[in-house]
Amino acid sequence: MKQSTLLLLAGAALASAQSPLYGQCGGVGWTGPTTCVSGATCVYSNDYYSQCIASGSGVTTAKTTTKTSTTKTSTTKTTTTKTTTTAAGSGGGATGLTTVVPASAGSTTLPSAKVISGTFDGGMVKYDRNPKVCEEQSETGEEDAMFILEAGATIKNVLIGPNQAEGIHCRGTCTIQNVWWLDVCEDALTLLQASGTSYVIGGGALHAADKIVQFNGRGTVSIKNFYANDYGKVVRSCGNCSGNGGPRNIIIDNVVAVDGGVLCGINTNYGDTCKITNSCQDDGKYCDRYTGNSSGAEPPKIGSGPDGTYCTTSNVSTSC
Ligand SMILES: *[C@@H]1O[C@H](CO)[C@@H](O)[C@H](O)[C@H]1NC(C)=O
Ligand SMILES: *[C@@H]1O[C@H](CO)[C@@H](O)[C@H](O)[C@H]1NC(C)=O
Ligand SMILES: *[C@@H]1O[C@H](CO)[C@@H](O)[C@H](O)[C@H]1NC(C)=O
Repeated sequence: MKQSTLLLLAGAALASAQSPLYGQCGGVGWTGPTTCVSGATCVYSNDYYSQCIASGSGVTTAKTTTKTSTTKTSTTKTTTTKTTTTAAGSGGGATGLTTVVPASAGSTTLPSAKVISGTFDGGMVKYDRNPKVCEEQSETGEEDAMFILEAGATIKNVLIGPNQAEGIHCRGTCTIQNVWWLDVCEDALTLLQASGTSYVIGGGALHAADKIVQFNGRGTVSIKNFYANDYGKVVRSCGNCSGNGGPRNIIIDNVVAVDGGVLCGINTNYGDTCKITNSCQDDGKYCDRYTGNSSGAEPPKIGSGPDGTYCTTSNVSTSC
């Protein structure tokens, strides 16, 4: 073994935690790990943000040179091709599907959740909480969100950092466009609307130990052109909150979800539905069906996969 290799190994063993794939690994004010897990390389985006990107993957290729990967034959290349095509046809991915996290245009921290009425365009700045609230997960609620949206509000072009607990809370229907959660803490988006439809268009969420979207209200959520990587569930209807009920309708179209669980978890006893079209989940995990409970008891799971009534799929695949 060469001495340089030995030094490298020793260094890796001494270093503290390494950043996960797609995690932050550098930038002004960053105090976390500056090295990436094996298989990932720390790539500079701007002075405020460097990110762990898959080493030698199509993702890196897509970021730098978009037309040189014709000799690659892995499934990664398929994803790259799709990403590049979609992004090019939809204005750089602002509302289209992309699996490449956009570079941040700077970063800012706020001591409390920012309340939004009307439309807020974050200009691709990374928002985070300081002091951080992510580790106090025992009793988190709306106050531990990064953004609170009033009924009818729209948020777009924002990166949400790891130090908040509850991402975005929508008090009524809302529109979430090209929003990226870099490291989901408790959950990414909580919907509390009494009725109507909320929209998630473009964007993505990474590293959600549990749910990405927690649907506690009623009505419909439409998720389109969205990317999920390393997550528990993409959407879960409230399983056992007090006053539980439905129906809650979930519409998922053109979503790519890898390294995680089902796209939706629904309560059939409340008439919830999940309609999945033109989407990919790499393990073929599309839906779990539960019997929801309104008195706090654990909701029993009654089945998995499409049943043609409550959960339907069309043009879904596992190659993503
Ligand atoms: C099937 O879904 C993929 C996205 O996963 C899409 O690119 C393709 O156009 C869809 N095919 C049809 C026939 O709609
Ligand atoms: C909720 O759980 C309680 C306690 O286990 C049970 O008595 C009740 O029937 C459940 N409700 C539903 C809708 O399953
Ligand atoms: C409600 O469900 C959650 C998630 O499965 C579980 O952690 C919690 O214990 C449940 N609450 C009760 C009272 O069973």
